[in-house]
Amino acid sequence: APRCPVVAIDGPSASGKSTVAKSLAQALGIAYCNSGLVYRAITWGLIAKGVTIEREPVFKTTVRQMKIECQIEGNELHVRIDGKEPGQEARSPEVNAAVSHVAASPWLRKRLLPIFRQLAEEHSLVMEGRDIGTAVFPATRYKFYIDADPKVREQRRQKQGETDSIEDRDWEDRSRTAAPLRCAADAAFLDSSRMTVEEVVRRLLDELRKRGFPLPEGPSAP
Ligand code: CDP
Ligand code: CDP
Repeated sequence: APRCPVVAIDGPSASGKSTVAKSLAQALGIAYCNSGLVYRAITWGLIAKGVTIEREPVFKTTVRQMKIECQIEGNELHVRIDGKEPGQEARSPEVNAAVSHVAASPWLRKRLLPIFRQLAEEHSLVMEGRDIGTAVFPATRYKFYIDADPKVREQRRQKQGETDSIEDRDWEDRSRTAAPLRCAADAAFLDSSRMTVEEVVRRLLDELRKRGFPLPEGPSAP
């Protein structure tokens, strides 16, 4: 089990993971980690170097030479590739189109595993992604799977001004052989289709309480 308490949140795109995980981390006073950002930053780095992403052997060489830094700063995960943060470019249409392809690499996933785990050696955290409860922190007692109707998820993304389809990425994430997106047997499952962000966070806090998570005490307690 991780040294510090870890809350794992997995689910498909636009199920509300990031929004909910951020709010939950704040309520708990612990760090918020978006694991997808690491895959996005690496993909951004590959695109910047003009590397063909189609096949693993091609990008492997480049990734091997990349300096991948993951650090908690200001209670949030920051990722640097060769010393640079991608910023908004991590969410560009080019990255959206290629990231699931990069993330499907078993070699890359294996390489990132110790980097993700290391974060919980020094920090309590809420980490969201696709395989946090199944592969990265399978031993944590605090895990959730958030889902929502595909139509609702498309609408949420459109509302955010994103026009890229999330369907292909979802399919790739679910069907890959290395740590595919799925609900862990011991995860609490939540359908957020007809729930507000606040309602979801409430439910997670209730479940964490039941599972014995060390909740903060005092006047500002959640
Ligand atoms: O991280 P993920 O891709 O799972 O989703 P997100 O970026 O956190 O959420 C996508 C959008 O859905 C955001 O604008 C949220 O405010 C919204 N949302 C919602 O309307 N209702 C929820 N229960 C959860 C999220
Ligand atoms: O924000 P959104 O939910 O659309 O995506 P994200 O969480 O930023 O993740 C981007 C992509 O990274 C996903 O579509 C997956 O292909 C990959 N990913 C992964 O494979 N495993 C994770 N733990 C997190 C992200």
